[in-house]
Amino acid sequence: MLEKIRETVDFIQSKFDFKPEVGIILGTGLGGLTKEMTVEHEIEYKDIPNFPISTVEGHRGALIFGSFNGKKIVAMQGRFHYYEGYTMQQVTFPVRVLKFLGINLLIVSNASGGINPDFNVGDIMVLSDHINLFGTNPLIGPNIKELGPRFPDMSQPYDKKLIRKAFQIAHEANIDLKKGVYAGVTGPTFETPAEYMYIRNTGADAVGMSTVPEVIVARHMGLTCFAISIITDSGVPGEIVEVTHEEVQEVAAKAEPKMALIIKELLKSI
Ligand code: HPA
Repeated sequence: MLEKIRETVDFIQSKFDFKPEVGIILGTGLGGLTKEMTVEHEIEYKDIPNFPISTVEGHRGALIFGSFNGKKIVAMQGRFHYYEGYTMQQVTFPVRVLKFLGINLLIVSNASGGINPDFNVGDIMVLSDHINLFGTNPLIGPNIKELGPRFPDMSQPYDKKLIRKAFQIAHEANIDLKKGVYAGVTGPTFETPAEYMYIRNTGADAVGMSTVPEVIVARHMGLTCFAISIITDSGVPGEIVEVTHEEVQEVAAKAEPKMALIIKELLKSI
């Protein structure tokens, strides 16, 4: 694994000299965020050694290097999901690479189903915590001590200071920002009503098919994490309607400007 990470990092660094400080994983419908970046370099996943290739519609696969409010950024346009058939190690490999490229902060975005009755479709939720319901963990297997400890602490997965800043930004911009616990599940099925209720009863406010593996690996390596989610559909009893990937993308695209503003201002403030 370590060798593969180094091979990939060496490949990228042989193309250009750019040391990113922040990594951003752009989730469903959020690809447009890169339009506001000053792009300096771009490499498609298919051209990067050891990178899996993204297969889901709406997830283009490329690493975008550039700046955003003066901060040096590497954005993952398109992420890898466990339901695509990748191993947990493949899903999280790019996060390892970003760390070795030099980032110290990882910002993650995603789309999720809202299961807290106070949430509305189109709302944005900052993750205060997560629950791993994948039934597996990307750190299973021999621990690589150069990456992090065998038993990583998870007492503060999402940085409290950044969460506070996000709320200040939202307040000033008149955005009704929500905060809650994200449950990560494998998918690819959306939940049955009984499953939404089950997940709600675990203590979660929203449910989605990503983020948890990436954040586990990021925290293992000591990266500071911030994650934000667009509530694209409802899993609240009485509000559940048929949901499609297209609708999820549509709602996410509509909410994107609010989310982009929060991320941009957050980057300005650090
Ligand atoms: N469930 C799981 N993943 C999701 C959902 C959902 O309702 N919406 C968007 N991603």
